[in-house]
Amino acid sequence: MIINYKINNEIHNIVISDTIKKNIVSQVEKVKSDKKILLVYDNNINLDIIKVIQNEFKIIGVDLVSVRISGKKKNKNYKILLKIIDVLISNQFTKNSILVSCGGGVVGDLSNFAASIYLRGMVYFHIPTTMTAIVDSCIGGKTAINYKNVINSIGTYYHPKSVLIFKEIIDNLPEREYLAGIPEIIKCGLIKKTSLLKFIENFHTEIKERKFKILKKVIFETLKVKIYYFKKDIYEKNIRLNLNFGHTFAHAIEMATDKYIKKDFFRHGEAVGLGMMCEIYYSYQKDSKLLNYVKQILDLYQLPTKILSEKNFKDKAKIQSEIYKAIFLDKKKLNRYPRYINMKKKFKPNIKEIKNFNLINLTIKKFLN
Ligand SMILES: NC(=O)c1ccc[n+]([C@@H]2O[C@H](COP(=O)([O-])OP(=O)(O)OC[C@H]3O[C@@H](n4cnc5c(N)ncnc54)[C@H](O)[C@@H]3O)[C@@H](O)[C@H]2O)c1
Repeated sequence: MIINYKINNEIHNIVISDTIKKNIVSQVEKVKSDKKILLVYDNNINLDIIKVIQNEFKIIGVDLVSVRISGKKKNKNYKILLKIIDVLISNQFTKNSILVSCGGGVVGDLSNFAASIYLRGMVYFHIPTTMTAIVDSCIGGKTAINYKNVINSIGTYYHPKSVLIFKEIIDNLPEREYLAGIPEIIKCGLIKKTSLLKFIENFHTEIKERKFKILKKVIFETLKVKIYYFKKDIYEKNIRLNLNFGHTFAHAIEMATDKYIKKDFFRHGEAVGLGMMCEIYYSYQKDSKLLNYVKQILDLYQLPTKILSEKNFKDKAKIQSEIYKAIFLDKKKLNRYPRYINMKKKFKPNIKEIKNFNLINLTIKKFLN
């Protein structure tokens, strides 16, 4: 399966395939390059997969340098970014060299950022390896590092020339990294009318079993929703903001739990599931059919629908107040009010300011435990 899309008259593509073999090299051979490749990969990926990728490059005589990175959120920082840039400089990579990243959202965002700033932009390919990266972060061109405990505070917009999604990688993913991508699929199903929600409900057994025939259709449809939004608004001034549904609360939940419980307490996608529930509740100011519906789908995939369980945190008041404060770090805000995606009905997302401070607290409390 191939999706082609154009940005500034240049074609970019996404390949969804059963096998790594031949598919990477055919994409590399399509672009004009000096055949020097920096492979940045997540050190949690099965090494056999990395070896297959490295071998493919060797077969076509690429000059290959590899760097391993630990794909933890705490590593999405300027030190690791500069580590990648140092390798590019010391190996005399050019603008026509290719940076290929193989990892989840952390390795992807970092590598994409490095590719966008090294010599003001080099060729970039991405092989996403978590479900969040496969259905969301691999396209759209948002690059970032976290700084001063603020998620994605520094970054650019720079699009991968090619994204390569492989069955072997999905089959090898740990269960948590697989399921954590489901909320981003639900999000795309909720913000645009497609067959996605029906798929995710009706084929939940097949999806949980990673049946690739079904899964590739779900990935395809999800990425098409994302392309629909970002192509119309590359720099996220208006319609693209809808892709942030759930993210104002999700980022606040991630920041607070990362700081006060432990790093990576929630995967980004898990927090997005919770964030969507919070934003639906905030939109309606009470329980609603839509809220129950989203909870039911998250339950089908054993995803969190509460922020804390009794055993994992004693100081609930502290967490509540930290989430509240973190809401005000929202990057979408244009003045003192954070913004969120209002969703009273399926397929009707709408960016709005959060002005009811009391309701923020009620919302956090509702989903705390
Ligand atoms: N650029 C965007 O549009 C965008 C969109 C969504 C999320 N993000 C960013 O993505 C990040 C979250 O992404 P994520 O959930 O993929 O997190 P991640 O990259 O931290 O990966 C989660 C965990 O899975 C491990 N891992 C990755 N691939 C693996 C594999 N194949 N096998 C075994 N383990 C593997 C990682 O080492 C890590 O421990 C956040 O930083 C978020 O801000 C960016």
